[in-house]
Amino acid sequence: MYRIYLFLLCYSLIYASTNPCILYSPNKNLTLIFDINDAFELEYQLFYKNKTVIEPSRLIIDLMDQPDFRNNFIVSQIDSSGVDEEWHPVWGEVKSIQNSYNELAVTLEQIDIEDRKIILRFRLFNDGLGFRYEFPRQDALQYFIIADELTQFNLTGNHTLFWLPGDFDTNEYTYGTTPLSEVDATRGMSSQEISTRTIIADNAVQTPLMIKTIDSLYINIHEAALVDYPAMHLLVDKEECILTSIFAPDAVGNDAYLQTPAKTPWRTIIVSDKAEDILASKLILNLNDPCRLDDVSWIKPQKYIGIWWGMHVGTMSWNYADIGNIKLNQVNWNKLTPNGRHGATTENTKRYIDFAAENGFDGVLVEGWNIGWEDWFGAWKEEVFDFITPYPDFNVAELQAYAEKKNVKIIMHHETSSSVTNYERRMDSAYSFMNKYGYNTVKTGYVGRIIPRGEFHDGQWMVNHYTRVAEKTAEYKIMVNMHESARPTGMHRTYPNWLACEAARGNEFNAWSSGNPPEHETILPFTRMMGGPMDYTPGIFQITMDYYGKTNGEQVHTTLAKQLALYVTLYSPLQMAADLPENYEKHMDAFQFIKDVAVDWDDTKIINAEPGDYITIARKEKNSENWFIGSITDENARDMSISLTFLNPKIKYAASNYRDAKDAHWKKNPMKYEIEHFLVDSKTVLELHLSEGGGAAISLMPANTSEIKKFKTYR
Ligand code: NOJ
Ligand code: CA
Repeated sequence: MYRIYLFLLCYSLIYASTNPCILYSPNKNLTLIFDINDAFELEYQLFYKNKTVIEPSRLIIDLMDQPDFRNNFIVSQIDSSGVDEEWHPVWGEVKSIQNSYNELAVTLEQIDIEDRKIILRFRLFNDGLGFRYEFPRQDALQYFIIADELTQFNLTGNHTLFWLPGDFDTNEYTYGTTPLSEVDATRGMSSQEISTRTIIADNAVQTPLMIKTIDSLYINIHEAALVDYPAMHLLVDKEECILTSIFAPDAVGNDAYLQTPAKTPWRTIIVSDKAEDILASKLILNLNDPCRLDDVSWIKPQKYIGIWWGMHVGTMSWNYADIGNIKLNQVNWNKLTPNGRHGATTENTKRYIDFAAENGFDGVLVEGWNIGWEDWFGAWKEEVFDFITPYPDFNVAELQAYAEKKNVKIIMHHETSSSVTNYERRMDSAYSFMNKYGYNTVKTGYVGRIIPRGEFHDGQWMVNHYTRVAEKTAEYKIMVNMHESARPTGMHRTYPNWLACEAARGNEFNAWSSGNPPEHETILPFTRMMGGPMDYTPGIFQITMDYYGKTNGEQVHTTLAKQLALYVTLYSPLQMAADLPENYEKHMDAFQFIKDVAVDWDDTKIINAEPGDYITIARKEKNSENWFIGSITDENARDMSISLTFLNPKIKYAASNYRDAKDAHWKKNPMKYEIEHFLVDSKTVLELHLSEGGGAAISLMPANTSEIKKFKTYR
């Protein structure tokens, strides 16, 4: 009976569909089928062109202490609609974004339970699918607890996955690239370099999960608009090739506490037969709510340096004195003997401000400015930092005046040490302090085990905390960059002051661990960065760490030229020049690229890309004719031709190519680069050679008369 009903509704409301419900993407490349199977369970399937992307997959919500949403469904209503609009992000990779989709909302009721409803909402774009569960306001369901959401992604075979071990507390692993059947998350258990790990299961992986199928489709699975819900992970059924969602429970074992009306985040499946399309997709942003801030005039993309790398390579310390086991308010800081290595001194900060001012940087991050670093790590203690008391050798007022004079902003640092209750109590005073002393950007961090004890970084409580920080910093007109947060899901559309997150394995791991293999940065854009910008902190010029007396072969696993290319290939509105000023001073010619490169863009062209192998991207600077190209490779050398057809045909450009020297190699000869200057136009085809673990960074700016005289036309 219900099938006839469904058929009639589908027929009348959706495009010429038959039973089951069929939804097409605007360009008809994608087809979604929604159905109730013979066991009266909810199922969906997805097709791209003539290939299956997702085989029949079940959609299950289990509630705590209530009848579940597993089966016995009938369709009570079907609504379809479509959207075709353009919108303009406050900052981004492109200046305008097309949001075009067809939507299907299916209201379902259970035959045996009166008046209980759930809505499944599907949005089908030209580049993929988003769907979510909605729980409308209803008498039979008011306050409820999600025991499990078992959303399935039933893949068509033993495809290649680019995966991280599933972990409720960290995403700072290196990637595994294996067939689905060979996922082994136990690898995470020996990753001692990551301080807080909670491996979910042998077969758990994280999202964004990048998949390359046996029949050459590229599929990315993630989520959009993670609000009031835990972050999604996936369990891999290696026999059936089915991925099923799993979530961080709270301290008493429940996934999420909801109250109707409520909705889950969007589950997203981006798909194409071209890898480049995955990187160009705006689906996740389109599924997020529009900007919620009235005034965004104070939000600015920025480039910064910092008193930071020194701590990671060991030449400076966060702490002021070398003591342990302290209680924050029982120390007389003025009586302590400074250790002589403290990085955040007034004098050193002035030196960094000078360097920033001389080289056109917007900000200087200063870590270790506030009391508490003597005893911050690993103790799971509550009162670690107060976020407002500087060390005796850091003069806040004096530095405010100095920075203002030099037109540079000091970037605040709030390491919470994951004592999040403490941070929540102190957020208002900390942000007021920032307002008072002229700080407009904060870097937060969540190293360690979470307090409230028993919570995870990826649980609902913490997800709500990150959102509260985004909202509260916005109230104080503060931009925020979160480290060790859950990975982003496009929320920077709604809160554009949320400039970036780390939420993956950053460059810092190269300073003190086995580091990031040469392929790492060719996978990040296909995985972690699908949800939003990353504070990766590129730009390390002193590649090898023996320079600092390290003896375990620690090094950055790229050439110097590749470090430059990352400013283009790893998109972020907040980019750090992470190395020490004295290392830049030795290579001012190469440093010129970091000074020139933009952080906000009118347009982006993904020129070529293959996850785990290479990425080449060209971007046009916002409100300018300048273009920048970044090209990176994994451990293999590569040659490629790049045709510059995207350039303005009326303009001759002065190009500077910062490239690997002939014998450069990430391991054998990482710091050798060459810089070439020449003239190009839209008809030029550039030939690039990338060394093993190498890259090329190219700036293209309208040529002035002296450059036209001085430089040769490219080949
Ligand atoms: C980890 C962050 O990722 C890093 O950037 C920071 O310097 C340390 N925590 C200390 O807060
Ligand atoms: Ca980190």
